[in-house]
Amino acid sequence: MFESLRRQLPVMLQNRLDSALETTAIFAGMKNPRVLQAMAPSALRGLVLQAGRSGAPTLMPAAHDAYFNWSYPHDHEEMHRLYERAKLGQWNGSSLAWSTAVDPMDPMMPLAPLDMIDVHAAAQAGIRLQGQESQKMIYDITCWMLSQFLHGEQGALLAACQVTESVQFFDGKLYGSTQVVDEGRHVEVFHRYLSEKLGKIYPINDNLFVIIDALMSDSRWDMKFLGMQIMVEGLALGAFGFLYQHTREPLLKELLRYVIQDEARHVHYGVLALREHIQQQLSPKEKEEREDWAYEVALLMRNRFMAYEVYEEWYAGTRVTREQWRQLVTESPGMRRFRHIMLSRLVPNIREIGLLSPRMRPYYEQAGLGAYFQGAAATELSGEQMLAELDRG
Ligand SMILES: [Fe+2]
Ligand SMILES: [Fe+2]
Repeated sequence: MFESLRRQLPVMLQNRLDSALETTAIFAGMKNPRVLQAMAPSALRGLVLQAGRSGAPTLMPAAHDAYFNWSYPHDHEEMHRLYERAKLGQWNGSSLAWSTAVDPMDPMMPLAPLDMIDVHAAAQAGIRLQGQESQKMIYDITCWMLSQFLHGEQGALLAACQVTESVQFFDGKLYGSTQVVDEGRHVEVFHRYLSEKLGKIYPINDNLFVIIDALMSDSRWDMKFLGMQIMVEGLALGAFGFLYQHTREPLLKELLRYVIQDEARHVHYGVLALREHIQQQLSPKEKEEREDWAYEVALLMRNRFMAYEVYEEWYAGTRVTREQWRQLVTESPGMRRFRHIMLSRLVPNIREIGLLSPRMRPYYEQAGLGAYFQGAAATELSGEQMLAELDRG
Protein backbone atom coordinates (compact mmCIF):
# COMPACT_ATOMS: atom_id res chain seq x y z
CA MET A 1 0.00 0.00 0.00
CA PHE A 2 2.75 2.41 1.11
CA GLU A 3 4.89 1.29 -1.83
CA SER A 4 2.24 1.98 -4.45
CA LEU A 5 1.45 5.39 -2.92
CA ARG A 6 5.13 6.23 -2.88
CA ARG A 7 5.56 5.38 -6.54
CA GLN A 8 2.80 7.79 -7.49
CA LEU A 9 4.68 10.75 -6.01
CA PRO A 10 6.78 13.05 -8.23
CA VAL A 11 10.40 11.80 -8.48
CA MET A 12 11.75 14.68 -6.39
CA LEU A 13 9.45 13.82 -3.47
CA GLN A 14 10.15 10.10 -3.83
CA ASN A 15 13.84 10.89 -3.52
CA ARG A 16 13.40 13.08 -0.46
CA LEU A 17 11.35 10.39 1.21
CA ASP A 18 13.91 7.74 0.24
CA SER A 19 16.73 9.80 1.74
CA ALA A 20 14.77 10.51 4.95
CA LEU A 21 13.88 6.82 5.32
CA GLU A 22 17.51 5.86 4.93
CA THR A 23 18.58 8.29 7.64
CA THR A 24 15.81 7.08 9.95
CA ALA A 25 16.75 3.45 9.29
CA ILE A 26 20.33 4.13 10.43
CA PHE A 27 19.09 5.39 13.79
CA ALA A 28 16.19 3.01 14.22
CA GLY A 29 18.65 0.15 13.59
CA MET A 30 20.99 1.21 16.40
CA LYS A 31 20.49 -1.21 19.24
CA ASN A 32 22.69 0.44 21.82
CA PRO A 33 21.42 3.79 23.20
CA ARG A 34 24.99 4.82 24.11
CA VAL A 35 26.04 4.45 20.46
CA LEU A 36 23.03 6.43 19.36
CA GLN A 37 23.84 9.17 21.86
CA ALA A 38 27.51 9.30 20.81
CA MET A 39 26.73 9.43 17.09
CA ALA A 40 23.70 11.76 17.12
CA PRO A 41 25.50 15.16 17.05
CA SER A 42 27.76 13.99 14.21
CA ALA A 43 24.80 12.60 12.30
CA LEU A 44 23.00 15.92 12.71
CA ARG A 45 25.98 17.83 11.31
CA GLY A 46 26.67 15.32 8.51
CA LEU A 47 23.32 13.94 7.38
CA VAL A 48 20.87 16.70 8.23
CA LEU A 49 22.90 19.92 7.95
CA GLN A 50 25.22 18.34 5.32
CA ALA A 51 28.13 20.37 6.69
CA GLY A 52 30.66 18.61 4.42
CA ARG A 53 28.97 19.92 1.30
CA SER A 54 28.73 23.60 2.07
CA GLY A 55 32.11 24.32 0.47
CA ALA A 56 33.23 26.17 3.63
CA PRO A 57 35.97 24.89 5.97
CA THR A 58 34.56 22.82 8.86
CA LEU A 59 35.35 23.25 12.55
CA MET A 60 34.91 19.99 14.42
CA PRO A 61 34.82 20.19 18.20
CA ALA A 62 37.71 18.25 19.77
CA ALA A 63 38.44 17.65 23.45
CA HIS A 64 40.76 14.88 24.56
CA ASP A 65 43.67 14.48 26.94
CA ALA A 66 47.15 14.82 25.45
CA TYR A 67 49.27 12.18 27.19
CA PHE A 68 52.86 13.19 27.94
CA ASN A 69 55.55 10.98 29.41
CA TRP A 70 58.80 12.65 30.53
CA SER A 71 60.64 9.38 31.12
CA TYR A 72 60.52 8.26 27.47
CA PRO A 73 60.01 4.53 28.11
CA HIS A 74 60.65 1.85 25.52
CA ASP A 75 57.29 0.27 26.24
CA HIS A 76 56.09 -1.64 23.18
CA GLU A 77 58.46 -3.82 21.16
CA GLU A 78 56.14 -4.47 18.21
CA MET A 79 55.28 -0.75 17.85
CA HIS A 80 58.99 -0.02 17.96
CA ARG A 81 59.59 -2.47 15.09
CA LEU A 82 56.76 -0.88 13.14
CA TYR A 83 58.36 2.55 13.69
CA GLU A 84 61.68 1.25 12.31
CA ARG A 85 59.91 -0.23 9.28
CA ALA A 86 57.98 2.98 8.71
CA LYS A 87 61.16 5.07 8.64
CA LEU A 88 62.66 2.76 6.00
CA GLY A 89 59.42 2.73 4.01
CA GLN A 90 59.22 6.51 3.46
CA TRP A 91 58.82 7.67 -0.15
CA ASN A 92 58.43 10.97 -1.94
CA GLY A 93 55.09 11.73 -3.60
CA SER A 94 56.78 14.20 -5.96
CA SER A 95 58.90 11.37 -7.42
CA LEU A 96 55.99 9.42 -8.91
CA ALA A 97 55.78 9.38 -12.73
CA TRP A 98 53.62 12.52 -12.93
CA SER A 99 54.51 13.04 -16.60
CA THR A 100 52.34 9.99 -17.48
CA ALA A 101 49.53 11.06 -19.80
CA VAL A 102 46.19 9.84 -18.44
CA ASP A 103 43.14 9.48 -20.68
CA PRO A 104 40.30 8.34 -18.42
CA MET A 105 38.20 7.25 -21.43
CA ASP A 106 40.92 5.10 -23.06
CA PRO A 107 39.36 1.61 -23.33
CA MET A 108 42.82 0.02 -23.52
CA MET A 109 43.82 1.45 -20.15
CA PRO A 110 40.67 1.60 -18.07
CA LEU A 111 40.87 3.33 -14.70
CA ALA A 112 38.52 0.81 -13.11
CA PRO A 113 36.90 -2.52 -14.16
CA LEU A 114 34.53 -2.19 -17.08
CA ASP A 115 31.75 -4.06 -15.26
CA MET A 116 31.77 -1.59 -12.37
CA ILE A 117 28.67 -0.13 -13.98
CA ASP A 118 26.97 -2.84 -15.96
CA VAL A 119 24.60 -2.06 -18.82
CA HIS A 120 22.43 -5.11 -18.03
CA ALA A 121 22.18 -4.26 -14.33
CA ALA A 122 21.23 -0.74 -15.41
CA ALA A 123 18.52 -2.06 -17.75
CA GLN A 124 17.11 -4.20 -14.95
CA ALA A 125 16.92 -1.12 -12.75
CA GLY A 126 15.09 0.67 -15.59
CA ILE A 127 18.07 2.88 -16.50
CA ARG A 128 19.15 2.94 -20.17
CA LEU A 129 22.82 3.58 -20.86
CA GLN A 130 23.79 4.20 -24.47
CA GLY A 131 27.03 4.47 -26.41
CA GLN A 132 29.87 5.67 -24.19
CA GLU A 133 27.60 6.49 -21.27
CA SER A 134 28.56 3.50 -19.14
CA GLN A 135 32.26 4.30 -19.64
CA LYS A 136 31.65 7.95 -18.73
CA MET A 137 29.76 6.81 -15.64
CA ILE A 138 32.64 4.55 -14.61
CA TYR A 139 34.95 7.54 -14.98
CA ASP A 140 32.65 9.62 -12.74
CA ILE A 141 32.35 6.85 -10.15
CA THR A 142 36.14 6.42 -10.13
CA CYS A 143 36.55 10.19 -9.55
CA TRP A 144 33.93 9.92 -6.80
CA MET A 145 35.72 6.96 -5.21
CA LEU A 146 39.14 8.62 -5.34
CA SER A 147 37.59 11.84 -3.96
CA GLN A 148 36.31 9.85 -0.95
CA PHE A 149 39.81 8.39 -0.55
CA LEU A 150 41.18 11.95 -0.56
CA HIS A 151 38.68 13.16 2.06
CA GLY A 152 39.31 10.04 4.14
CA GLU A 153 43.04 10.81 3.97
CA GLN A 154 42.45 14.31 5.31
CA GLY A 155 40.48 12.70 8.15
CA ALA A 156 43.35 10.26 8.68
CA LEU A 157 45.92 13.07 8.74
CA LEU A 158 44.09 14.99 11.47
CA ALA A 159 43.12 11.85 13.38
CA ALA A 160 46.73 10.60 13.26
CA CYS A 161 47.73 13.86 14.99
CA GLN A 162 45.09 13.34 17.70
CA VAL A 163 45.98 9.69 18.14
CA THR A 164 49.67 10.56 18.50
CA GLU A 165 48.74 13.00 21.26
CA SER A 166 46.45 10.67 23.13
CA VAL A 167 48.12 7.24 22.85
CA GLN A 168 49.73 6.07 26.08
CA PHE A 169 52.61 4.03 24.66
CA PHE A 170 55.70 6.11 23.99
CA ASP A 171 56.74 3.77 21.17
CA GLY A 172 53.25 4.42 19.81
CA LYS A 173 53.88 8.19 19.75
CA LEU A 174 57.12 7.73 17.80
CA TYR A 175 55.38 5.41 15.40
CA GLY A 176 52.46 7.89 15.14
CA SER A 177 54.81 10.64 13.98
CA THR A 178 55.54 8.55 10.85
CA GLN A 179 51.86 8.03 10.24
CA VAL A 180 51.26 11.77 10.28
CA VAL A 181 53.84 12.16 7.49
CA ASP A 182 52.39 9.18 5.60
CA GLU A 183 48.87 10.66 5.69
CA GLY A 184 50.11 14.06 4.59
CA ARG A 185 51.73 12.39 1.58
CA HIS A 186 48.52 10.48 0.80
CA VAL A 187 46.54 13.71 0.77
CA GLU A 188 49.18 15.18 -1.55
CA VAL A 189 49.18 12.34 -4.10
CA PHE A 190 45.42 11.75 -4.25
CA HIS A 191 44.74 15.46 -4.57
CA ARG A 192 47.34 15.82 -7.29
CA TYR A 193 46.08 12.81 -9.22
CA LEU A 194 42.48 14.00 -9.09
CA SER A 195 43.17 17.60 -10.00
CA GLU A 196 45.96 17.11 -12.58
CA LYS A 197 44.97 13.82 -14.21
CA LEU A 198 41.23 13.40 -13.79
CA GLY A 199 40.11 17.01 -13.44
CA LYS A 200 37.23 16.32 -11.11
CA ILE A 201 36.75 16.23 -7.30
CA TYR A 202 33.48 15.35 -5.57
CA PRO A 203 32.46 16.62 -2.11
CA ILE A 204 32.75 14.36 0.90
CA ASN A 205 30.05 11.72 1.23
CA ASP A 206 27.68 12.52 4.14
CA ASN A 207 28.22 9.14 5.82
CA LEU A 208 31.98 9.41 5.70
CA PHE A 209 31.62 12.91 7.19
CA VAL A 210 29.55 11.49 10.07
CA ILE A 211 32.17 8.86 10.89
CA ILE A 212 35.08 11.33 10.76
CA ASP A 213 33.13 13.88 12.83
CA ALA A 214 32.21 11.22 15.41
CA LEU A 215 35.76 10.04 15.99
CA MET A 216 37.37 13.48 15.90
CA SER A 217 34.97 14.82 18.54
CA ASP A 218 34.94 11.73 20.80
CA SER A 219 37.23 12.40 23.76
CA ARG A 220 38.05 8.70 24.34
CA TRP A 221 41.36 7.74 22.74
CA ASP A 222 40.36 4.18 21.96
CA MET A 223 37.28 5.37 20.03
CA LYS A 224 39.56 7.47 17.83
CA PHE A 225 41.74 4.42 17.20
CA LEU A 226 38.77 2.22 16.55
CA GLY A 227 37.15 4.74 14.21
CA MET A 228 40.18 5.75 12.21
CA GLN A 229 42.79 3.00 12.41
CA ILE A 230 40.40 0.07 12.21
CA MET A 231 37.19 1.18 10.52
CA VAL A 232 38.11 3.98 8.09
CA GLU A 233 41.64 2.76 7.35
CA GLY A 234 40.58 -0.88 7.26
CA LEU A 235 37.88 -0.17 4.69
CA ALA A 236 40.20 2.11 2.74
CA LEU A 237 42.82 -0.61 2.57
CA GLY A 238 40.27 -2.93 0.99
CA ALA A 239 39.07 -0.21 -1.39
CA PHE A 240 42.64 0.68 -2.45
CA GLY A 241 43.30 -3.02 -3.01
CA PHE A 242 40.27 -3.32 -5.28
CA LEU A 243 41.34 -0.42 -7.45
CA TYR A 244 44.99 -1.53 -7.44
CA GLN A 245 43.97 -4.96 -8.67
CA HIS A 246 41.76 -3.67 -11.49
CA THR A 247 43.20 -0.46 -12.81
CA ARG A 248 45.26 -0.62 -15.99
CA GLU A 249 46.36 3.00 -15.66
CA PRO A 250 50.06 2.77 -14.65
CA LEU A 251 50.36 6.00 -12.60
CA LEU A 252 47.31 5.19 -10.48
CA LYS A 253 48.57 1.64 -9.97
CA GLU A 254 51.98 2.87 -8.84
CA LEU A 255 50.45 5.43 -6.49
CA LEU A 256 48.18 2.81 -4.92
CA ARG A 257 51.06 0.33 -4.53
CA TYR A 258 52.90 2.84 -2.36
CA VAL A 259 49.83 3.92 -0.39
CA ILE A 260 48.78 0.31 0.36
CA GLN A 261 52.15 -0.46 1.97
CA ASP A 262 51.78 2.55 4.29
CA GLU A 263 48.16 1.76 5.12
CA ALA A 264 48.95 -1.84 6.02
CA ARG A 265 51.27 -0.48 8.75
CA HIS A 266 48.58 1.92 9.98
CA VAL A 267 45.97 -0.79 10.44
CA HIS A 268 48.59 -3.06 12.03
CA TYR A 269 49.31 -0.30 14.56
CA GLY A 270 45.59 0.13 15.29
CA VAL A 271 45.22 -3.59 16.00
CA LEU A 272 48.27 -3.58 18.31
CA ALA A 273 47.04 -0.59 20.31
CA LEU A 274 43.50 -1.87 20.72
CA ARG A 275 43.83 -5.62 21.13
CA GLU A 276 45.11 -5.61 24.69
CA HIS A 277 43.14 -2.55 25.75
CA ILE A 278 39.78 -3.93 24.63
CA GLN A 279 40.32 -7.43 25.95
CA GLN A 280 41.90 -6.56 29.29
CA GLN A 281 41.16 -3.02 30.33
CA LEU A 282 37.55 -2.28 29.41
CA SER A 283 34.56 -3.16 31.56
CA PRO A 284 32.01 -5.51 29.91
CA LYS A 285 29.70 -2.54 29.36
CA GLU A 286 32.41 -0.44 27.71
CA LYS A 287 33.40 -3.37 25.51
CA GLU A 288 29.80 -3.88 24.42
CA GLU A 289 29.56 -0.25 23.38
CA ARG A 290 32.65 -0.63 21.15
CA GLU A 291 31.24 -3.86 19.68
CA ASP A 292 27.99 -2.11 18.75
CA TRP A 293 29.75 1.01 17.46
CA ALA A 294 32.03 -0.99 15.16
CA TYR A 295 29.09 -2.96 13.80
CA GLU A 296 27.02 0.17 13.10
CA VAL A 297 29.91 1.85 11.33
CA ALA A 298 30.58 -1.26 9.21
CA LEU A 299 26.95 -1.24 8.10
CA LEU A 300 26.94 2.50 7.55
CA MET A 301 29.89 2.13 5.22
CA ARG A 302 28.67 -0.99 3.44
CA ASN A 303 25.09 0.05 2.83
CA ARG A 304 25.55 3.74 2.29
CA PHE A 305 28.57 3.93 0.04
CA MET A 306 26.21 4.37 -2.88
CA ALA A 307 27.73 7.25 -4.86
CA TYR A 308 24.53 9.31 -4.61
CA GLU A 309 26.62 12.36 -5.51
CA VAL A 310 27.09 10.82 -8.97
CA TYR A 311 23.38 10.05 -9.16
CA GLU A 312 22.54 13.67 -8.42
CA GLU A 313 24.87 14.83 -11.16
CA TRP A 314 23.44 12.47 -13.77
CA TYR A 315 19.80 12.20 -12.91
CA ALA A 316 18.64 15.18 -10.80
CA GLY A 317 15.43 16.47 -12.35
CA THR A 318 14.86 13.32 -14.44
CA ARG A 319 12.49 10.38 -14.00
CA VAL A 320 15.25 8.09 -12.70
CA THR A 321 14.81 7.69 -8.93
CA ARG A 322 17.37 7.32 -6.16
CA GLU A 323 16.00 3.84 -5.56
CA GLN A 324 16.69 2.78 -9.17
CA TRP A 325 20.22 4.12 -8.85
CA ARG A 326 20.75 2.13 -5.65
CA GLN A 327 19.65 -1.01 -7.48
CA LEU A 328 22.14 -0.32 -10.26
CA VAL A 329 25.03 0.26 -7.83
CA THR A 330 24.06 -2.73 -5.70
CA GLU A 331 23.72 -5.15 -8.59
CA SER A 332 26.61 -4.19 -10.90
CA PRO A 333 29.19 -7.01 -10.66
CA GLY A 334 32.19 -4.66 -10.30
CA MET A 335 30.57 -2.78 -7.41
CA ARG A 336 29.72 -6.10 -5.74
CA ARG A 337 33.39 -7.09 -5.88
CA PHE A 338 34.34 -3.67 -4.54
CA ARG A 339 32.18 -4.14 -1.44
CA HIS A 340 33.40 -7.71 -1.04
CA ILE A 341 37.11 -6.77 -1.06
CA MET A 342 36.47 -3.77 1.22
CA LEU A 343 34.74 -5.85 3.89
CA SER A 344 37.08 -8.82 3.60
CA ARG A 345 39.84 -6.59 5.00
CA LEU A 346 37.76 -5.00 7.72
CA VAL A 347 35.98 -7.87 9.49
CA PRO A 348 39.13 -9.90 10.39
CA ASN A 349 40.57 -6.83 12.15
CA ILE A 350 37.36 -6.38 14.15
CA ARG A 351 37.78 -10.03 15.16
CA GLU A 352 41.45 -9.59 16.01
CA ILE A 353 40.83 -6.76 18.47
CA GLY A 354 38.13 -8.77 20.20
CA LEU A 355 34.96 -7.03 19.00
CA LEU A 356 33.52 -9.98 17.09
CA SER A 357 32.09 -11.54 20.26
CA PRO A 358 29.62 -14.45 20.30
CA ARG A 359 26.93 -11.82 21.01
CA MET A 360 27.77 -9.95 17.78
CA ARG A 361 28.40 -12.86 15.39
CA PRO A 362 24.73 -13.47 14.54
CA TYR A 363 24.30 -9.79 13.60
CA TYR A 364 27.27 -9.93 11.23
CA GLU A 365 25.97 -13.19 9.80
CA GLN A 366 22.53 -11.68 9.26
CA ALA A 367 24.14 -8.76 7.43
CA GLY A 368 25.91 -11.24 5.11
CA LEU A 369 29.34 -10.65 6.63
CA GLY A 370 29.86 -14.13 8.10
CA ALA A 371 32.02 -15.14 5.13
CA TYR A 372 34.79 -12.79 6.31
CA PHE A 373 35.19 -14.12 9.88
CA GLN A 374 38.25 -16.26 9.11
CA GLY A 375 40.28 -13.81 6.96
CA ALA A 376 43.81 -12.65 7.81
CA ALA A 377 44.08 -9.62 10.14
CA ALA A 378 46.55 -6.77 9.55
CA THR A 379 48.95 -8.21 12.14
CA GLU A 380 49.20 -11.42 10.09
CA LEU A 381 49.64 -9.79 6.68
CA SER A 382 52.23 -7.20 5.63
CA GLY A 383 51.66 -4.69 2.82
CA GLU A 384 54.01 -6.69 0.57
CA GLN A 385 52.09 -9.93 1.16
CA MET A 386 48.81 -8.13 0.53
CA LEU A 387 50.09 -6.74 -2.78
CA ALA A 388 51.40 -10.17 -3.83
CA GLU A 389 47.97 -11.62 -3.10
CA LEU A 390 46.28 -8.89 -5.17
CA ASP A 391 48.76 -9.40 -8.04
CA ARG A 392 47.83 -13.09 -8.15
CA GLY A 393 44.21 -11.98 -8.61
FE1 LIG B 1 46.37 7.18 4.37
FE1 LIG C 1 46.37 5.55 7.01
